[in-house]
Amino acid sequence: MDSTPAVKPIDAMPIEARAIEATPTEPSGAKCVIQIDDVHKYYELGETRVHALRGVSLEIGRGEFVAIMGASGSGKSTFMNILGCLDKPSSGHYLLEGTDVSQHDKKALALIRNQKIGFVFQGFNLLARTTALENTELPTLYTKIDNSERRRRASEALAMVGLADRAHHFPSQMSGGQQQRVAVARALVNRPSILLADEPTGNLDSRTSVEIMEILQNLNDKGLTVVLVTHELDIAQFARRVLIFRDGKIRKDDPVASRPIASEVLKTLPTLED
Ligand SMILES: Nc1ncnc2c1ncn2[C@@H]1O[C@H](COP(=O)(O)OP(=O)(O)OP(=O)(O)O)[C@@H](O)[C@H]1O
Ligand SMILES: [Mg+2]
Repeated sequence: MDSTPAVKPIDAMPIEARAIEATPTEPSGAKCVIQIDDVHKYYELGETRVHALRGVSLEIGRGEFVAIMGASGSGKSTFMNILGCLDKPSSGHYLLEGTDVSQHDKKALALIRNQKIGFVFQGFNLLARTTALENTELPTLYTKIDNSERRRRASEALAMVGLADRAHHFPSQMSGGQQQRVAVARALVNRPSILLADEPTGNLDSRTSVEIMEILQNLNDKGLTVVLVTHELDIAQFARRVLIFRDGKIRKDDPVASRPIASEVLKTLPTLED
């Protein structure tokens, strides 16, 4: 006798699956989450003008996992800021899920950012006197969901990064890797279409870095689109596609030939005692 309902209630689905379900229907044929067309970015600094992006064009499909590499100053963060609607191009177009956001004002960008983008940065950026659970809840404060739902989503996101048992810990009571996992949970709590990570392993030791990559690979396997900036070739190999930036342009764009699986790599690395 099987009493399981044929259709899983949305609340019983993993958070990332719901992120995908909740994605509005795209105009037909728009399989790309991200379409960038001839984007330039200039920064005006007094008399001087820095040309940080010099004609970047690219498409990223739903469910891709892209790593961006390149020398310091090559435009990676500038590009990520545009992808994440933190900044807009000086010229060119950016279509996010089929909508041209290139000329949106700050308010419209903030709205889209909160709905569609999750961010993870090198420096974790957690609030110090705030628990893991409260840190994870923060992005939901700008949405209309009620407190109990807020708490439920945050707990769920923490569970997804393996930190259900650390919900009431403060950042100072957690390791760097755990803090970064809280930052990943916070990035997921609004069920974004894209996860953007700018050097998420930059402050972590090598084992902990692979643990973060394991989480990103798992999320990506479940359909989340991930774009990651890294200076480390080993870390970039966990993605499915690697872009190399130089002088504000994409110079290489290649699939990863034999991608290591982070959970397998972890088995070969020594564990540190808790
Ligand atoms: N807010 C800003 N104002 C002026 N110039 C900027 C600004 N942000 C970046 N730049 C300049 O734009 C260029 C690209 O910078 P960006 O931060 O995108 O590089 P990056 O590839 O992320 O480097 P890194 O690996 O060091 O993080 C650099 O020449 C930088 O000095
Ligand atoms: Mg940078």
